[in-house]
Amino acid sequence: MTPNVIRTTNFVSDAAGFILQEARAALAARGEFRIALSGGNTPRPIYAEFGGIGRELPWEKVRFTFGDERCVSPNDEQSNYRMARESLFAPAAVPDHSALRMRGEIDPLLAAQEYEDQLNLLATQRGETIYRHDLMLLGMGDDGHTASLFPGTLALEEQTRRVVSNFVPKFNAWRLTMTLPLLDQSRHVLFLASGAKNRELLEKVIGGDRTYPAARVEPVSGQLTWIIGETA
Ligand code: 6PG
Repeated sequence: MTPNVIRTTNFVSDAAGFILQEARAALAARGEFRIALSGGNTPRPIYAEFGGIGRELPWEKVRFTFGDERCVSPNDEQSNYRMARESLFAPAAVPDHSALRMRGEIDPLLAAQEYEDQLNLLATQRGETIYRHDLMLLGMGDDGHTASLFPGTLALEEQTRRVVSNFVPKFNAWRLTMTLPLLDQSRHVLFLASGAKNRELLEKVIGGDRTYPAARVEPVSGQLTWIIGETA
């Protein structure tokens, strides 16, 4: 699948503007905006910017989910939820019920099942067989992982479950992650790669080198976009 690639020296503002545009389109079309947040460091300034330019959005009609989470408490500095709360939810006064948090603080197997059940219920309530995100935000690690789908890990090969726990040997830690079948149901997948990302790896992934998990995200009937930060 050939992605749409946007290269920009205004990475944060262009990414935040893109998300706002997607939000307005989804709200106009379906009266809600379902967005999955990615974790790590790259998104933090983008979420802060989005919360600022999107302050007029009807947050009660936005459903935030998480593409993955570390198996830590929500107050741990490693928590993706904490990062989103600090950069977006708190400053933009997003109501608690608008964010569906992966409970990293409980048993990983139970937390994954709980999250999958919650998404399946939301889908069923809308007559869907699988939850369909309007916008799936993803990042890429230096090994080509995305969400918590790391090379050589079981979750990467999952073709049935929507959310699983995944042991990541390189960190000797458990993670929670959405799987490719769920990611690929998104109406729009947006990868965010700052200027700090390895250019050679980026080109391999964008070129479709399936050695890397990020290259294996292929929306079934949605769009795939990369916004790549460039140094001026
Ligand atoms: C996570 C993320 C992960 C992230 C990449 C890139 O929980 O870490 O979901 O997939 O997007 O590791 O992280 P950076 O943006 O910090 O480089």
